[in-house]
Amino acid sequence: MNKPEIGIGLVGSGFMGRCHANAFRAVSGLFDVPGEPRLEMLADASDDLAARAAQALGFARGTGDWQALVADDAVDIVAITAPNVLHAPIAHAAIKAGKTVYCEKPLSTTAALALEMTEAAEAAGVVTLVGFNFLRNPMIKLAREIIASGDIGEVTGFRGRHAENYMADPDVPHSFRTDPRGGGALADIGSHIISMARYLLGPMAEVQADCRTIHATRPTAPGATERAPVEVDDMTHALIRFESGVSGSLEANWAATARTMDLSWEITGTKGALAFSQEQMNELQLWSGTAGRSGYTRIEAGPAHPPYGAFCPAPGHHLGFNDLKVIEVAELLAAHAGGPACTPDFREAYEVQSTVEAMQKSNASRGWISL
Ligand SMILES: NC(=O)c1ccc[n+]([C@@H]2O[C@H](COP(=O)([O-])OP(=O)(O)OC[C@H]3O[C@@H](n4cnc5c(N)ncnc54)[C@H](O)[C@@H]3O)[C@@H](O)[C@H]2O)c1
Repeated sequence: MNKPEIGIGLVGSGFMGRCHANAFRAVSGLFDVPGEPRLEMLADASDDLAARAAQALGFARGTGDWQALVADDAVDIVAITAPNVLHAPIAHAAIKAGKTVYCEKPLSTTAALALEMTEAAEAAGVVTLVGFNFLRNPMIKLAREIIASGDIGEVTGFRGRHAENYMADPDVPHSFRTDPRGGGALADIGSHIISMARYLLGPMAEVQADCRTIHATRPTAPGATERAPVEVDDMTHALIRFESGVSGSLEANWAATARTMDLSWEITGTKGALAFSQEQMNELQLWSGTAGRSGYTRIEAGPAHPPYGAFCPAPGHHLGFNDLKVIEVAELLAAHAGGPACTPDFREAYEVQSTVEAMQKSNASRGWISL
């Protein structure tokens, strides 16, 4: 029997828009999803941009007006990959129209706006999912299982980092990423390591942070000679106390000259330890605490770590970044069809945003902030 079709409306066709489109195209060949995604409509900043992107990415229609996409009866899921400042208005309109909302991170530009979006979605009873795709890695799921099993004993410490180099050059121009309304390294990539810390070790109780702008000015636009001040952080270091009592630290840095994707962490326990970096995303490092055998053992991703086997029957052949989005979309489609709720939903993403904001407040006040 043919599966029902699920109409996808995608807003934005940049880095993440292409990644979403790829995931919606691939998912039903890899997972037993409850419906077949139909790439119905793509919205971008102008009709022309949207028409070209719709054709390139396989969507039936394009529009320069995201409101038309959200209101369209043939669209069941609204995927938001537009700049952060647009997440709230698009999500509110989609919630009002009763659509499932799949929004990129960070959920919004402030915690207050993120909370409004969360409360609206909960009141309307719509399914929500936020694109913290790195949590979909089977190695991260395995790490959480190892921690919960007690195999590394009682957790005593966390050290996390999301460091990349895409803003290391002072001539990289301003964009939505440097918009003082919700931009900065902490919001852009710090949100990923915060979401991962919460996934592995639970909520944080208190934070203290130091945010720093490394490059004081940037070109106002691509190719511009005029420069404008930078009002957001390039680098943040924070101390953390989790609700469990575990203490730790994290760094968000988009000017880390040698790093391309160092979303990494180390968790120390009384009987063992775990370590991970997204730069080697198919490996989890485990020290199991055996006396006289110090040093990490490499656990290699394979079919023993679901859903790796949906992609490949052989270990060591490696999943990639785009595969994490496919896993995320499979969970979204299941929840859309009435299956298990998917996380991180808007509420969890609001908690992440509150943590980002608490770190920014801590930097301004030079003290600890309770969450
Ligand atoms: N989950 C991840 O790993 C990840 C990675 C990168 C970016 N992101 C997030 O995805 C979002 C987009 O980032 P990106 O890197 O794809 O940016 P991008 O600049 O590559 O793409 C943004 C897209 O939005 C479009 N857009 C701008 N104004 C619009 C409007 N008014 N209506 C419709 N479309 C409009 C742009 O034309 C472009 O196609 C951001 O929220 C970002 O934080 C997430």
